[in-house]
Amino acid sequence: MSDASTSRRSFLRQLAVAAGAVVLMPRVTACGGSGAATAEPGGPSSRPTLATDGSAAVPVPVPRTQPDGWDPVEFNRARGNAGAIPESYLGDINGPDGDWDHLGKHLPWFPELDPALVPAGYVGIMWGDPDKGHTPHPNAPRGPANNHEGHWYNWIRVRKATDEEAQELQSTYTDWPGTNPDDSGAYAVHGGGEITDNAGKNTIYLAAVPPDVRPGDLVRIYAHCLTHGEYVDFVRYRG
Ligand SMILES: [Fe+2]
Repeated sequence: MSDASTSRRSFLRQLAVAAGAVVLMPRVTACGGSGAATAEPGGPSSRPTLATDGSAAVPVPVPRTQPDGWDPVEFNRARGNAGAIPESYLGDINGPDGDWDHLGKHLPWFPELDPALVPAGYVGIMWGDPDKGHTPHPNAPRGPANNHEGHWYNWIRVRKATDEEAQELQSTYTDWPGTNPDDSGAYAVHGGGEITDNAGKNTIYLAAVPPDVRPGDLVRIYAHCLTHGEYVDFVRYRG
């Protein structure tokens, strides 16, 4: 292992330990009257956060396990139309290119990566798998094109796909292309180069994996794009 990769790995480990991934306890707020328990991470003051399984504002619950006949495009379209995706994007997801260019673009996949890029306890995630014909998801810093909100995933929750009680870990990303030292998530770059190359499509999100997840397990990835809302899918964890 090169000195550079060793120091990057140490840095990421340090970051993971120092910031800590937020542990979500989906059952904790089950008795809440409003149900509005899904806290949006925004920075140090917002942690730790608790979340329910699924957004209270959306009458389409997020399944704990992959349902029979699971179709992530159709599920996310239905949940998006029910409120998980901003109204301004509904025309796109329901349009002729919605499946690949808009819904598929926001679905997670695990690229094959040099292990040196991924700190222990983390997994690399990208969005919009070209092998499935999906459009890779771009990323953009805050600017006029995105109401100065930025375009990237600002939280990712990883949970073993099981009906049993299981830990869910949330990683946060409050900036792109830079990182905030208070975030529990981090970035790497697919294929090397600058993270901003190729409209940010080479960005790898390093997200914390709960300790009960083993190679070969199906995991649920539940995440939020700042511009385009929430998306859910199940992906096989290779370790
Ligand atoms: Fe997006």
